[in-house]
Amino acid sequence: MRNDIKVAIAGVGNCASALVQGVEYYRNRQGIAVEGIMHQSIGGYSCSDVEFVAAFDVDRRKVGHSLEEAIFSKPNCTRIFQSALPVSNVIVQAGPVLDGVAAHMADYPDDAAFRSADLEPTDIAAALRASGAEVLVCYLPVGSEQAVRHYAQACLDARVALINCVPVFLASDHSWAQKFQDAGVPIIGDDIKSQVGATIVHRALARLFADRGVGLDRTYQLNTGGNTDFLNMLERSRLTSKKISKTESVQSQLDERLDVRDIHIGPSDYVPWQQDNKVCFIRMEGRGFGDAPIELEMRLSVQDSPNSAGVVIDAIRCAKLALERGEAGPLEAPSAYYMKSPPRQLRDSVALEACNAFIDGRQYDLPAETTRGSMVAERPRRSK
Ligand SMILES: NC(=O)c1ccc[n+]([C@@H]2O[C@H](COP(=O)([O-])OP(=O)(O)OC[C@H]3O[C@@H](n4cnc5c(N)ncnc54)[C@H](O)[C@@H]3O)[C@@H](O)[C@H]2O)c1
Repeated sequence: MRNDIKVAIAGVGNCASALVQGVEYYRNRQGIAVEGIMHQSIGGYSCSDVEFVAAFDVDRRKVGHSLEEAIFSKPNCTRIFQSALPVSNVIVQAGPVLDGVAAHMADYPDDAAFRSADLEPTDIAAALRASGAEVLVCYLPVGSEQAVRHYAQACLDARVALINCVPVFLASDHSWAQKFQDAGVPIIGDDIKSQVGATIVHRALARLFADRGVGLDRTYQLNTGGNTDFLNMLERSRLTSKKISKTESVQSQLDERLDVRDIHIGPSDYVPWQQDNKVCFIRMEGRGFGDAPIELEMRLSVQDSPNSAGVVIDAIRCAKLALERGEAGPLEAPSAYYMKSPPRQLRDSVALEACNAFIDGRQYDLPAETTRGSMVAERPRRSK
């Protein structure tokens, strides 16, 4: 029998809640046909072979509480699909706040916003070592550049693999990638790409246009939601990396990059009553045979947090395989399939094949390199 994968969480928000619930939910469904997951088994590990051993947050309603209490504490608002959870003995520890909590949170009600605990922060590397964690999942708010790097450094110091779900560039940043390589620590990043979320759908539609010979003239992707992720992103100065991550993720799928004025992608508004329901609107305008105009409008409605947990549950198991195999640095194929901003962008069909080859331990030759922001020259704006 294999040991469980020992996982720590930084940021016990909605995504963490969905992940913790999911591990127990699928434990109860072992041996029966299940929906909602991409891989029943990765290297012999099932979804329930995950044991949470440490958690860090800064909110006073979470720090000092058990993990299974904290995931159901406000301002978390994701669906509760597995309320009965085993006692984990994991008490949420105080992380360093740094730039994790945006100032405008103070203008919103307690139930909807972060409230700092104002406690002396734990030494994260020491806590990771003491817990025996093998993998840290980083779920900090968008714009927490310093805080995410602080946890990343702790992973290097404690030699713990990192799954970076946040658009702070680490795996896709050369110097951070090298640090992970040098420390012998694997990383999967950056910015989690949900199961069937706005990004993967937009990427697939972009490929569809290109593969069918339809020139894409303009596109937008507007997103609304009512969770703290959307509230946090009302502060536009925190959004720079998120917009780069989401926009480049779609640009990378086009044969010719769109001019920056012809592509608009980003979180668009905070609608409190939507809670964890994210709604995405995609519009694409193009030209087909004989220059005939084509317009496509699409609306996608999802539960935001389980949608990402369904991918993280695979990324954790891939990180564990890398640890077992002694692989270090950015894991290119899992990053390309699971993340919006991987070190190397691939078409999703290729990323799936490459990721499956990684899981099976098969050699897979990745296509010629294309990296974020340097794929193809920008084409001139088309006159309309
Ligand atoms: N589908 C998705 O939900 C999805 C997709 C892609 C990326 N992401 C990203 O994943 C991250 C987590 O999303 P979420 O919906 O769980 O966010 P959330 O707002 O629900 O949770 C963030 C948590 O981090 C805590 N926190 C803030 N500063 C901290 C610090 N310095 N140390 C430790 N904890 C701190 C907050 O108290 C909160 O509990 C976000 O960056 C989000 O953009 C989510």
